[in-house]
Amino acid sequence: MNKIWAVYFSPTGNTAKVVLRAAQKLSAQLGAPVETVDLTLPKARAEVSTFGPEDVAVVGTPTYAGRVPNKFLPELQRVLRGQGTKALGIVTFGNRSYDSSLAELLEVLEADGFSTMAGAAVDCSHVFSDKIAPARPNAGDWAALDAWAEAAAAVIKGTAEGKECPAPVRPLAEARTPVAPYYTPLGVDGQPAKFLKAKPVTDMEKCVRCGMCVNVCPMGSIPAEDPATTTGICIKCQACVKLCPHMARHFEDPAFLSHVQMLEQNYTRPAESAFFA
Ligand SMILES: Cc1cc2nc3c(=O)[nH]c(=O)nc-3n(C[C@H](O)[C@H](O)[C@H](O)COP(=O)(O)O)c2cc1C
Repeated sequence: MNKIWAVYFSPTGNTAKVVLRAAQKLSAQLGAPVETVDLTLPKARAEVSTFGPEDVAVVGTPTYAGRVPNKFLPELQRVLRGQGTKALGIVTFGNRSYDSSLAELLEVLEADGFSTMAGAAVDCSHVFSDKIAPARPNAGDWAALDAWAEAAAAVIKGTAEGKECPAPVRPLAEARTPVAPYYTPLGVDGQPAKFLKAKPVTDMEKCVRCGMCVNVCPMGSIPAEDPATTTGICIKCQACVKLCPHMARHFEDPAFLSHVQMLEQNYTRPAESAFFA
């Protein structure tokens, strides 16, 4: 075994945490060092990363609208090259549902030259609201993630032959579902909430023009010369909102706020993380 690669897109950090934990676990099991490829910022996606047949890649993305984030998808297809590299796919989701994101991630990895051998969908806090699953992943999620990474390591080492998948790990075939259309976000009235064009607004009384938001926007959409604006595409990832040290950015778009309220009304029950190998 050469290296364990922790590869992720993670605007607000949930996915990074989960991918790194799984990669560390594999590293301990397989005796190979961990290296990180953080694809969150545009400059990190400028070059293609190629992985060898002796590497293992743990690749993670958040779920957006039930799928791999649509603005990240072409980047994922473009920048990763496997050479029969064994891969574990991880999606995080914010307690509503991961829908097709894991199936889609596994498909893309296969098309990128990886040999996918495990998949996980890990429930996390929802970036849209502090009221939705604020304590996920919890101890049970982490323990299940560890068990899953150990099961994958056993397959890689060739010591899993003839053994049953340990609970709660399910056969990987169950994760390979057909990829469904994007989830349509709803508002409190049950109607589609159309906030595709919504962008964060900046409270100029709080903004000190430190430029932190410029440096964390995964789309590079906040201009350094005027950080109080968002001139490019906004994927609603909340990186600028959550990471602003002065809490100067927020969303006011009524359709977006209605969707958040709908999620708070209907999706605070605990969702289940899912593990496949
Ligand atoms: C635009 C957008 C769409 C989302 N769609 C979903 C979804 O369909 N289902 C869900 O459960 N969580 C959804 N979430 C929540 C994120 O998947 C979750 O909070 C994730 O862990 C964030 O990852 P990160 O911290 O690595 O950025 C969405 C978040 C964003 C920003």
